[in-house]
Parts: sequence; structure tokens; C-alpha cells
Amino acid sequence: LIDKQSHIYPILIGLMGSGKTSIGKLLSKELGVPFVDLDHYIVDKAGKTIPEIFAEQGEEGFREIEREALREVIGKPVVLSTGGGAVMREENRVLLEAHAPVIWLKSSLEFLAGRIDGDPNRPMIAGRDTLKTLQELAEIRYPYYTQCADYILHRGKMNKAASLQAVLEYLR
Ligand code: S3P
Repeated sequence: LIDKQSHIYPILIGLMGSGKTSIGKLLSKELGVPFVDLDHYIVDKAGKTIPEIFAEQGEEGFREIEREALREVIGKPVVLSTGGGAVMREENRVLLEAHAPVIWLKSSLEFLAGRIDGDPNRPMIAGRDTLKTLQELAEIRYPYYTQCADYILHRGKMNKAASLQAVLEYLR
């Protein structure tokens, strides 16, 4: 499939810190397909940073912009990385379920907490215990990620390069 460059437009899902953006970029180079990060798309669209959107419009305001953004981008010939909460709206899950391939990048919550702890650009964890917050989010979102994903990459100790290879292997 990859050799023929025949229209593989993966979407990456998973919790904050799971490597959707960095692996998405690598994947886009490898597949020769442009890369779109939904959070960056939202920031461009809104003309505001994600913390600013959360501060001014709350999480629900952000989810509404995210819903519109996903609807605009999904189906375009791109590699798409989504925000960790993109599965929260049912309408988004319907779109993601209808798309293939959707790839869930999964790591331990401890590992993710270590990666995102103290990141000022992630309002979901601002002023809260990072690991505990991730545990709460995982409880709600894992069933949704499972529902939407065609493939789950259990990253374990895999670095970016190894993760990329594993995803490419799946796509082959
Ligand atoms: C969010 C994840 C973020 C971003 C926003 C909300 C979440 O994206 O969309 O801060 O609810 O998990 P990343 O998963 O790229 O950090």
C-alpha cells in the first residue's frame, strides 16, 4: 500500500503526551502526505492559544471549536493528529469511526504524566494533580479510543523511531 502511495490518511488519537504530533509529523514525511495538527488548526482558526480559548470560553467552548475543526479537516488528504479530547463529542466519534486508519497511541499514564507535567499549554491539567487527572480522563476516554481505533500501538518503551516503524508495519 505504502509503495503505491495509495491514499493512506491516518488519524492519530490518544491522551496528551502520547506523541500524536511528533509521530504524526514523521508519518507524514514517510507517507509523503501533508501533516495537520488539529490543535494548531484550532489556534489558527480562533486566533487564540488553547489556554486563552479555555480561559475565555471554557472547555465546552473549546470542544465546540474542536468539533467544527474536525468536521472541516477529516477526509482531507492529510495525516491528522487530534487533541486528546477529540473523542469526547459523540459527533466526532461517529466521524472517527467512519474513518480508517485511526491509530491510538497508547502509553502508561505514569509515562504520560512525566511528559506533560507542568506544561502551561495544557489547561486540562492546570493546577491539578497530573497523574490523577490522566487517570480520570483515561477512565472516560479509553472506551472511546477503543471504539474509534483501527489499531492500538502499545508504545511501552518504544521511542519515536520504533513507534513510527510499528505504525508503518501496521499500514503495510
Ligand atoms: C486536550 C488535549 C490537548 C488540547 C487541549 C485539550 C484534552 O491536545 O486539545 O488542551 O482534553 O486531552 P494534546 O492531546 O495534543 O495535548
